[in-house]
Amino acid sequence: MRKILVTGGAGYIGSHTIVELITAGYTPIIVDNLCNTSHKNIDGIESIIDAKVKWRNADCTNKYAMDKVFSEEGKIDGIIHFAAHKSVEESVKNPQKYYDNNIGSLKVVLKCMQENEVKNIIFSSSCTVYGMPDVLPVDENAPFKKAESPYGETKQICEEMLKSDNCNSVALRYFNPIGSHPTTLIGDCSADRPSNLVPIIAECAIGKREYITIFGDDYNTPDGTCIRDYIHVVDLAKSHVKAMEFLIKNRGKHAFNVGTGIGVSVLEAVKAFEKINNLKINYSIGPRRSGDIEEIYANVNLVNIKLDWEPKEILEKAMKSAWDWEKKK
Ligand code: NAD
Ligand code: WQD
Repeated sequence: MRKILVTGGAGYIGSHTIVELITAGYTPIIVDNLCNTSHKNIDGIESIIDAKVKWRNADCTNKYAMDKVFSEEGKIDGIIHFAAHKSVEESVKNPQKYYDNNIGSLKVVLKCMQENEVKNIIFSSSCTVYGMPDVLPVDENAPFKKAESPYGETKQICEEMLKSDNCNSVALRYFNPIGSHPTTLIGDCSADRPSNLVPIIAECAIGKREYITIFGDDYNTPDGTCIRDYIHVVDLAKSHVKAMEFLIKNRGKHAFNVGTGIGVSVLEAVKAFEKINNLKINYSIGPRRSGDIEEIYANVNLVNIKLDWEPKEILEKAMKSAWDWEKKK
């Protein structure tokens, strides 16, 4: 049984990945200080898999705490590094918090890997590294543009750190993860008020908000609203299992887009949520949000071929699970 250390494994994407790793026969160890999640996700994982999962409460930026984890866990076959702060908005207000945690945690993890001869790491990157791409769908060779936020900058810096280290690495560049596990036992337990589109739509549906403001309808897109590539979190979680299998067989540095390859506008997203859940969402058109990119969606040829991965879930199913999670949480 291969042992995988999963930093941030109690978070939104991490918890879904833990379930998929166990299903695929790996033994994951969660390292998470619960700074942006809840123990409920660990309970939820255990209910889904009907077994215990090992969780170590440690801060990945603390070298002493991470030394203890590495030495006590013995042979580790690979790392999946999710642990980071993820709010674009907060990163603009408090950049240092993002540099310290996002860059600091990877620095400690890479050092521990070197000292303990652990070679393989999968890193949670983001399509934000591309900025506004010149060519769509965007592929992995597109240049990194100037980051729109300190959060985006940390992802660019972390990818550079991986390149200059002697580890084997896969950077998975997620597009827009949405939805939840069909059991509704795990999900996004972040303490922050959501700023992402789909959780906001769900909050409107349940009555926490009166309406959603659509940020601009005068973009150069068919219906004037921005276009994104929304990927079901369960599909995204499965890409990590494929990436780990790949990394164990293939040394070197790799980066893959993880999206559906399909561009969906904000209005289409609202309509898909309404249709599958049979309800009405109030919305109004507001001004553009500063820093928003007009249109981005993934070229997924590389991940299809190299990782033998493709998304299986359709947008409507993701929207249904997002609503189910909102009702349950
Ligand atoms: P999340 O906040 O739900 O999960 C992150 C987890 O890491 C949390 O459980 C948190 O408690 C933990 N954590 C943070 N700093 C830590 C530290 N120093 N030590 C130990 N644990 C720590 O976020 P998520 O949406 O699951 O995102 C996971 C990763 O994916 C992040 O790196 C994020 O930047 C990246 N990502 C997310 C999205 C998205 O839209 N959700 C998109 C692209 C990339
Ligand atoms: C999607 C679309 C908004 C809220 C961010 C990060 C990115 C990545 C994913 C981590 C946009 C529109 C939204 C609202 C709206 N995260 N919108 N009204 O901006 O693509 O990306 O999350 O790496 O780094 O920047 O996602 O969900 O915020 O927005 O009209 O109330 O919905 O303008 O077009 P985004 P999002």
